[in-house]
Amino acid sequence: MNIGIDLISFYTPPFFLSLTDLAAQRKISAEKYTIGIGQDEMSILPPDEDVVTMGANAAQSLLDKVDKTQIKALIFATESGVDQSKSAGMFVHRLLGLSKECRVIEMKQACYSGTFSLHSAMGLISLQKNAKVLVINSDVARYDLNSPGEPTQGCGAVALIVSNNPRLLKVESESAYISEDVMDFWRPNYRSSAIVDGQYSTKIYLKALNECWKKYGELTKRLPEHVHHFCFHLPFTRMAEKALKQLFRCKEEFQSRFIKSSPGFRYNRVVGNSYTASLYLNLCSLLDCSAENLEGHRVGLFSYGSGFVAEFFSGVIQAGYGSHLLKDLHSRLISQRKKISYREYLEFYHYALPEQGEVFNVPHFTNGHFRFSGLDNHKRLYEKTVS
Ligand code: COA
Repeated sequence: MNIGIDLISFYTPPFFLSLTDLAAQRKISAEKYTIGIGQDEMSILPPDEDVVTMGANAAQSLLDKVDKTQIKALIFATESGVDQSKSAGMFVHRLLGLSKECRVIEMKQACYSGTFSLHSAMGLISLQKNAKVLVINSDVARYDLNSPGEPTQGCGAVALIVSNNPRLLKVESESAYISEDVMDFWRPNYRSSAIVDGQYSTKIYLKALNECWKKYGELTKRLPEHVHHFCFHLPFTRMAEKALKQLFRCKEEFQSRFIKSSPGFRYNRVVGNSYTASLYLNLCSLLDCSAENLEGHRVGLFSYGSGFVAEFFSGVIQAGYGSHLLKDLHSRLISQRKKISYREYLEFYHYALPEQGEVFNVPHFTNGHFRFSGLDNHKRLYEKTVS
């Protein structure tokens, strides 16, 4: 079996808040955010974007590199869905002009569902070897203002084309996974922001990593030293330091691993948390930003979705991967974002849509290819802004 990630692309909206500015408003030291939790900026969702527009934008960049008619399934992973019944993927299917002969589904299990989507895609491809599957991970991390979670907000989407003979990462067959019903992070249907017991969640995350790594080690007979790079689900990038410290008990080994891994944290440090997309943003950043040639290197990926399901799996970076990356596009997306003030952040945060079914137009904010343009009779309306 030679199945895995053929192409990867990410999207984040064109606005960000500096965490130094947020720290000043909260009257705390900026180093708590930049060092203590390892975040510099967070992408901010404008009113005319949501998981659909972010997902469509991320996937759009991949479509001129594949034959669209070969995409036989679109799996949309999110915990920020826009409808209780209809998959966000259905809107994306139309916006991208995908073939009718394509299954569409939405997956949910906190930040983990993108990983289940990737493995489901691999299962589908093993049954239909010429098929490609589009996996979209798209989320908005939102917490209460003034809460400990506030500086770990963010938003973004990562799209993956999964196929046979992948050009980027062959996913290996051994995988270690566990599930346990805990309440570390959740969002009841009536709330627009998540509730998190951050300290408890961090503890559970590390315990899950320990158990998954142990199982993975038993399955593969590998030691941490046999894995060239680690990518993690990153609610905040300091989490990677805690995870690597647990994997590498020797101080020198940990330090050299941390330095080696840091290109992988670059995007996450400035985008913030993007839940389902976060692990794949770490992978995308590693591929795009590493100065060394990663051909033939093994990457270990740790996926964690509160509640919780966790999985450790690995893949091998393919020869010639460098010519299939979209690093210029990704670097422009980040560098061309507009820094917004604390006041604008609050305006976006409090922006509310009407709930009575009246026609409502959302003003233009984004410069992405797609936007959420409004509501009519409780239907969400989307438009393509760039042809
Ligand atoms: N300079 C440097 N570091 C500082 C600092 C300063 N001035 N002030 C505090 N810190 C450090 C603390 O020592 C702590 O480090 P440690 O983790 O090594 O103990 C870190 O910054 C965080 O400080 P803490 O007081 O623990 O922060 P907090 O109670 O405000 O919460 C989180 C931090 C991460 C728990 C909180 O942001 C959160 O809950 N985020 C959401 C996490 C999440 O999404 N989890 C669910 C999915 S996995």
